[in-house]
Amino acid sequence: MKIATVMLVFLSTAVTFFVSEVDASKFWDDFYVNFGDWNVDYRTADADSGNIVVNLGLDNTSGSGFRSKYPFLYGHIGMKLKLVGGNSAGTVTSYYLASVFEKWCELDFEFLGNVSGEPYILQTNVFAEGKGDREQRIYLWFDPTEDYHYYGILWNQNLILFMVDDVVIRVFHNSKDLGIPYLEYQPMYVYSSIWNGEQWATRGGTDKTDWSLQPFIASYKDFDVDSCAVHSEGNDKDDSHRCYNKLYSSWYGGADAGKLTNKQIDDLKRIQYNYVIYDYCTDAERFDETPKECSRNWPQREHTTA
Ligand SMILES: *[C@@H]1O[C@H](CO)[C@@H](O)[C@H](O)[C@H]1NC(C)=O
Ligand SMILES: *[C@@H]1O[C@H](CO)[C@@H](O)[C@H](O)[C@H]1NC(C)=O
Repeated sequence: MKIATVMLVFLSTAVTFFVSEVDASKFWDDFYVNFGDWNVDYRTADADSGNIVVNLGLDNTSGSGFRSKYPFLYGHIGMKLKLVGGNSAGTVTSYYLASVFEKWCELDFEFLGNVSGEPYILQTNVFAEGKGDREQRIYLWFDPTEDYHYYGILWNQNLILFMVDDVVIRVFHNSKDLGIPYLEYQPMYVYSSIWNGEQWATRGGTDKTDWSLQPFIASYKDFDVDSCAVHSEGNDKDDSHRCYNKLYSSWYGGADAGKLTNKQIDDLKRIQYNYVIYDYCTDAERFDETPKECSRNWPQREHTTA
């Protein structure tokens, strides 16, 4: 009896650590619709796998979105998206991680729609302790409306990778040694949404949303979370520390966790030369001084001695 009581107290105050795959059939155990539920299709199954597909809709009354029920600290988090096809001008489909606590942190993927036949823009951004202004924009090397593609984030103590399929499109290194805050200790929730950005999204707001085409639908499937979930409510520093310590000793904090592979370095160079259309690091009009972390954003291959 006594032991049972102790256990109960322990369970209700402890964090649950786990490294998991979000079971597709139980998707709604881990996520909930946080706005525009009348525009969300909850029930469709993928024709190939039978796994759940979530269709988020945007119409002239509202966009829609879902959010994870609990936040994660570090990990590898991703999902597959198929974006709004045809004339998607004005629509913004987003997928991001964000903390809800003070000194807010956020990692963003934002897909800016376009008129038929013109390319989407993928904008990424990094907020660390409330400071963002780190936009990078690329064109994709495929049509993201034709099929599903994987968009993922790897986040550990040393770096953050943004990935499209198996290609790294962006890296953000831990640059605390340069005085730049890093995303640490603060668990982040996973969010997705579609919303109306016609005032700015497409050619700077020139191409507006054509509402005769509503609803605009973005589809999501194959949710994959390999992370430490912080199940306690609120900003419990003890819980975050325990997650941090736990993961620091696992692969997330291993010897190679801060190093890019040669393939990743080659990916980044290819993206930089061929697909980047805006990089905050080279925006001299906006910043008097180049932000300090920029020296590390586009890596060079290390010299090897033959
Ligand atoms: C929204 O779209 C519906 C259906 O086309 C239309 O009846 C309605 O007037 C529109 N509302 C606004 C505020 O534009
Ligand atoms: C839309 O297409 C135009 C013309 O090709 C291009 O300049 C723009 O970058 C594209 N994307 C967005 C989101 O405006």
